[in-house]
Amino acid sequence: MKKVLLTGGAGYIGSHICLELVQHGYTPVVVDNFRASNRRIIERTQQLAGAPFPVHELDCRDTVGLRAVLEHEVGITGAIHLAAHKSVGVSVKQPREYYDNNLGSLLSLLAALETSSVEHLVFSSSCTVYGQPKRVPVTEESPIERAESPYGRTKQMCEAILDDAVAAAPLQVVTLRYFNPVGAHPSGLIGELPLGKPETLVPYITQTAAGLRTELTVFGSDYPTRDGTCVRDYLHIVDLAAAHVAALGWLERRGPGSFNEVFNLGTGAGVSVLEAIAAFEQASGTKLRYRLGPRRAGDAIEVYADASKARRELGWQARLGILDAMRDAWRWQQNIARGL
Ligand code: UD1
Repeated sequence: MKKVLLTGGAGYIGSHICLELVQHGYTPVVVDNFRASNRRIIERTQQLAGAPFPVHELDCRDTVGLRAVLEHEVGITGAIHLAAHKSVGVSVKQPREYYDNNLGSLLSLLAALETSSVEHLVFSSSCTVYGQPKRVPVTEESPIERAESPYGRTKQMCEAILDDAVAAAPLQVVTLRYFNPVGAHPSGLIGELPLGKPETLVPYITQTAAGLRTELTVFGSDYPTRDGTCVRDYLHIVDLAAAHVAALGWLERRGPGSFNEVFNLGTGAGVSVLEAIAAFEQASGTKLRYRLGPRRAGDAIEVYADASKARRELGWQARLGILDAMRDAWRWQQNIARGL
């Protein structure tokens, strides 16, 4: 069994990747500091996987600790690096912490990989690197504008660090730029657990429908879009997870050489906020309380992916749509209410 180091493996995206890895014959070796993740999630992931896999409680900035994991877990052939802070709002208030954690984790991982035989790395980036795109759909060649937040800038800087790293040493990197990951595992057993009040749309919708929030505010209804609200590319978390396995397979098939190859991960379809609400109402059979409010500072008007490169090269494409995502997010929300 090939082992894959998975940093941030106990989080929302990481737990779903664990399942995909196991289903495709890999053993995940999870490294997580459990500051933003919950132990119950990883226990449930192991139950769903039907097999225990190693979990190391460790901060990625601890290079000595990472080296020990790489030495101890014989047979690791690749790494997937997710461990990072991800809140746009918090990053504005705590920029130093964001740069320290997000850049520090990557630099520490690179240092640990240097002294190991692992040369395959999948890096978790974001469409946030495109800032306010001038044209949609966004391709991998779309210009990289200055990101809107310290969080976004950490992703841009990490990508630049990887470009420099592959120029200096043998390392094969796939950078995946996620559009908007949403939904939950169809079992209803794992999903997103926002810390405090959600900043992102889908958890806010499901928490409102569950009665935890009074109403959803739609941030802006006067944008130059088909219904006046912002458009995004909502990608089901199970599809997103599957792309990481496709990326590992692609790395394994590639010949020698060092590179950092970038792929957009999205459905290719734009969905407005009002369309997302309608999809939730249809999928859940409930009415959502919402009101049209002012714009949120820094929001891009319309962002959706041209994901044709991932389809062509990785053989990956999204199979699930916004209705599936809303159905699964709602099932998960109802299960959280029953207790983890
Ligand atoms: C999110 C992330 C960003 C990440 C990007 C792609 C946050 C705040 N933003 O941004 O870091 O790079 O996905 O993964 O974490 N909306 C409302 N009401 C709400 C919440 C959101 O109307 O209460 C609207 C927003 O204005 C936006 C859309 O819903 O138009 C989606 O918002 P959100 O889920 O925050 O995603 P992004 O803005 O794309």
